[in-house]
Amino acid sequence: MKKIGVLVSGGGTNLQSLIDAVEQREINGEIAVVISNKKDAFGLERAKKHNIEAVYSNDEEEIIRVLEERNIDLVVLAGFLKILSEKFTNSFENKIINIHPSLIPSFCGVGYYGLRVHEAAIKYGVKVSGATVHFVDENADTGPIIIQKTVEVLPTDTAEDLQNRVLKVEHQILKESVKKICDDKVKVIGRTVFVQD
Ligand code: GAR
Repeated sequence: MKKIGVLVSGGGTNLQSLIDAVEQREINGEIAVVISNKKDAFGLERAKKHNIEAVYSNDEEEIIRVLEERNIDLVVLAGFLKILSEKFTNSFENKIINIHPSLIPSFCGVGYYGLRVHEAAIKYGVKVSGATVHFVDENADTGPIIIQKTVEVLPTDTAEDLQNRVLKVEHQILKESVKKICDDKVKVIGRTVFVQD
């Protein structure tokens, strides 16, 4: 069974969707630790409530150490709003995935996180947006894409409306990606990710 480490900075609704899927045995893995770079992140409370080890640390070396000591197989960035160093990404090559609230390569990269992503999409006037789960490499939001899913953008949408609509598909595709990786059904060749049924 794969050991999963989840990194969060905020509310942790994506984390909650993973906790629920693991508890319902939809994912063949175990969330061994949840780490946050924000002391008051609600995600840490969610972990504790489900008897998952919750660690606060804003020190990258320490975060790497915690993940290595627990023999983590898969690191999930679930609303972790700090860009990882090359040392971090090299330590867990092809073992870190991230959920991003847009259709990469639109509205992504440095400075695009949380509500800002949806504000930019609405300002541009796009008719579809969505969410992306991808492997993490040394640059922001540039790693190979695992799953993307679209949502409609309505002319009357506020950034919050769009955020809520996208969040629902984030929960689905993050869960699906983690499930497939835990079942060894994900292979990466160059920039192409093959996901088996
Ligand atoms: C999610 O929308 C996630 O995609 C986004 O932060 C939110 C966290 O929500 N991540 C990024 O913007 C990364 N660039 P959550 O704490 O409720 O899961």
